[in-house]
Amino acid sequence: MGEYPVYDDGVYDAFDVRDERFRAYSEAIAGAAAGRVVLDIGTGRDALWAVAAARAGAAHVYAVERQPDAAAQARRTVSGLGGRVTVIEGLSTAVDLPTRAGVCVSEIVGNIASAEGAVTVLADARQRLCTTDCLWIPFRVQTWAAAVSLPAGGRLLASESLPYVEKVFAAVGRPFDLRLCLGGPAADLVISSAAPVESLVFDHRRPPPDADGTATARLTVDVDSARMTGLLLWSRIAVSSAASSREIDSLTGDTRGWAPVYVPLDPTEIRSGDHLEVTFHRRTSDDGIHPDYHVSVLAPSVEEPLVWSSPHHGGVFHESALHRELFPS
Ligand SMILES: C[S@@+](CC[C@H](N)C(=O)[O-])C[C@H]1O[C@@H](n2cnc3c(N)ncnc32)[C@H](O)[C@@H]1O
Repeated sequence: MGEYPVYDDGVYDAFDVRDERFRAYSEAIAGAAAGRVVLDIGTGRDALWAVAAARAGAAHVYAVERQPDAAAQARRTVSGLGGRVTVIEGLSTAVDLPTRAGVCVSEIVGNIASAEGAVTVLADARQRLCTTDCLWIPFRVQTWAAAVSLPAGGRLLASESLPYVEKVFAAVGRPFDLRLCLGGPAADLVISSAAPVESLVFDHRRPPPDADGTATARLTVDVDSARMTGLLLWSRIAVSSAASSREIDSLTGDTRGWAPVYVPLDPTEIRSGDHLEVTFHRRTSDDGIHPDYHVSVLAPSVEEPLVWSSPHHGGVFHESALHRELFPS
């Protein structure tokens, strides 16, 4: 959902939960904000990180939010903080600040880490809105991949997701094979080793991550034999570079902020010790912010690579058997 402007109270309520995501961000902000100008990109309805930064003694906080209703509510939320937080409505890529920020906080990390546009949005902030020695929260986001076997049957769209599916189709202008996340204990379905296919580090001492990129990963099957039905892609978030900071793993972690993306592939028999070569392409889409993805997988039992394409602005509808099953009409 985060790729599309479909946030509502139900989503913002989920972000308010005092979970691993909340604790990691709160600790990182408490350690970085004092005395500095802070930019909070995508402050959301409750301006969580802007309030945390002001309470931690930030010199000033600029909180930018693209959704007008959320920006208006955020402005009400920060009104009791003595003018130390300025809420700016708009896309961060289209606003200017009166002064550059020394800390940039954002939580525009997708279920595929780059999917909400973090690479392009934070590159723009680095160039125009932040100081050259800016501290970045989060510090590193990654996408990991592993092979999975999803049992046939019993697969349903979660009923609470249906209004958002409609909104995503409306945002794109038509139905398409949208990215799907697995609920439930997805880690139990994994049948191979796991490896990163994206690793995006935000650090003033290094060049910014490239907007477009290709990575390959080698996975080793670690069950006797199985029917591989697809891959899981999930994010890992190192909120701060401090040694004490724990990395959030969205596959196993205690957070509702993210869920693993299921990549359906043509089912393929695989055996223990087989190597799978995963190639992951990220390319900025036609909106200049959100990436399109293309994944291909080579397995010993297939001659042609198994492929998955997931453009940001849709692509086709009903191409995958899973989408035909879940969206019968
Ligand atoms: C995942 S929510 C996070 C909200 C809050 N910061 C938190 O972590 O709970 C992402 C928010 O960023 C906003 N957003 C995404 N990209 C943005 C951008 N480039 N400029 C301003 N707002 C953005 C969305 O509308 C949404 O409110």
